[in-house]
Amino acid sequence: MYEHINSPVNYGGVTLKNPIVFAPTSLGVSQEEMTQRLVRIAHGGCAMIILGDVPVGRHGFGPSLYTKKGFAFYRSLAEAVHKYDCKLCAQLHQSDSDLKAMLKYVPGVLTKKITPQELRPLLNEQVGPYITGLSREKIHHIIDSFGQAAVLAQKAGFDLIQIHGDRMCGSFSSALFNHRTDEYGGSAENRARFAVEAVQAVRRRLPDIPIDYKLPVRQENPAYGKAGVVESELSVFVPLLEHAGVTSFHVTLANHSDLSDTIPPANHPEFGQEGCFLKFCDQVRRYTSLPICGVGGLTRPDFVEEQLASGRIQCAAMSRQLIADPDWPEKVRSGRVSELHRCVRCNKECLGGMMAHRGVHCIYEKKENVS
Ligand SMILES: Cc1cc2nc3c(=O)[nH]c(=O)nc-3n(C[C@H](O)[C@H](O)[C@H](O)COP(=O)(O)O)c2cc1C
Ligand code: SF4
Repeated sequence: MYEHINSPVNYGGVTLKNPIVFAPTSLGVSQEEMTQRLVRIAHGGCAMIILGDVPVGRHGFGPSLYTKKGFAFYRSLAEAVHKYDCKLCAQLHQSDSDLKAMLKYVPGVLTKKITPQELRPLLNEQVGPYITGLSREKIHHIIDSFGQAAVLAQKAGFDLIQIHGDRMCGSFSSALFNHRTDEYGGSAENRARFAVEAVQAVRRRLPDIPIDYKLPVRQENPAYGKAGVVESELSVFVPLLEHAGVTSFHVTLANHSDLSDTIPPANHPEFGQEGCFLKFCDQVRRYTSLPICGVGGLTRPDFVEEQLASGRIQCAAMSRQLIADPDWPEKVRSGRVSELHRCVRCNKECLGGMMAHRGVHCIYEKKENVS
C-alpha cells in the first residue's frame, strides 16, 4: 500500500527517504516557535523541509544568514531536523518591493487605515517601476548575493538551495512587470537572464549542491498571477534554467495576485480541486526530464500515490496539509490513514492567521485544545 509514498527518491542528486516535502511556508511566529513547529513536522516523517523566505541579502524579513544570531538559528534548525533524517532546503528570497515606495504607506498601516489586504495591491503597483528602474550595478550586486547566501546556507547545514522564482526572479521574468530595454528586459531570453544568473551565481560557488527552482507559472486564460513565467515561454525559461545549474523544479502558480489564488481554498473558482497546480507540472515536463515537485491541494494519500506512481511528479509538497497534520507521512507509512486530520482547505487559521498577524495555525489545533 502506498508504495511510492513510502519509497526513497532521488531529487536532483539528493536522496530523500520519501517524496513528501514540507512546502515553503512562512509561519509568522517567533524563531523559537518556528523551530519547534518545524521539528514537529520533521518528526512526523516528511523527507524535506523547504524553509521559506531565507533572505539573499544582509537585511530582509527573515533571520539573516550574515549575522551571528541568524546563522546560529539556521544551524541549530538544521541540526534539529537532521535528527529525524529530514533534509533542509533554503528558499533564497529576494523581495521585489520598493522599500522607499513602501515608506509612504507606513502611517496608514500603523493607524490601521490601510489593511494588509489593501496594502498588497498598492505594493504590487510599485513592482513594475521598481524592477524596470533598478540599476545594473544593483542587479549585479543582488545576483552575487544569491551565491554568497548559498555558501552561508550550506555552511549552516542546509542540504539544498531553492531559488525563489517568484518575487524578484519572477518579476524580472514577467513581461507584465519588466519593461526594461537593456539585456535584462525585452525578449523572453532577456527576461530570464536575472534568474539564470542567480542560479549561476550559486552553481559557480557550489558546484555540487542540488539547486531546486520554484517555478511559478502564469496562467493567461483566465488570467491568474502576474509575476513568473507565462506558459508559452516555458520552452525558453526551463532549458535556460536547467543549463544554468538547476537540478529540480518546484512548480506552482505565479504570485502577485490574490494570496488565495496561490493558496487556494476548496471553493476557489479555478483552483479549488485537489492537485490544483499539477497541470503546470505537465507543462514544465514538456521541456525537462529533471525531477518535478508538485504542490497545491495535495491531501489525500490515494491521490498523492497516483500522481507519484504515474511519474507525473517525483515529489509531493504540502504546506497546509502538514500544518493540519504533521504526522501525515508517518500515519500513511504505518497504515493509520483513518487517523489523518485532512486539511479541508478552508484557509481559516493558516492564511487567516497570517493575515491577522496571529501566526499560522489550523482549525484542528482549536478542536484539540477544546477536547
Ligand atoms: C501560511 C502560508 C505561508 C506560505 N509562505 C510561503 C513562503 O514563504 N514562500 C513560498 O514560496 N510559498 C509560501 N506559501 C505557499 C505554499 O508553499 C504552497 O505553495 C501553497 O500553500 C499551496 O500548497 P498547499 O495546498 O499544500 O497549501 C505559503 C502558504 C501558506 C498556507
Ligand atoms: S486551517 Fe487547517 S484545515 Fe483549514 S486550510 Fe488551514 S491548514 Fe487546512
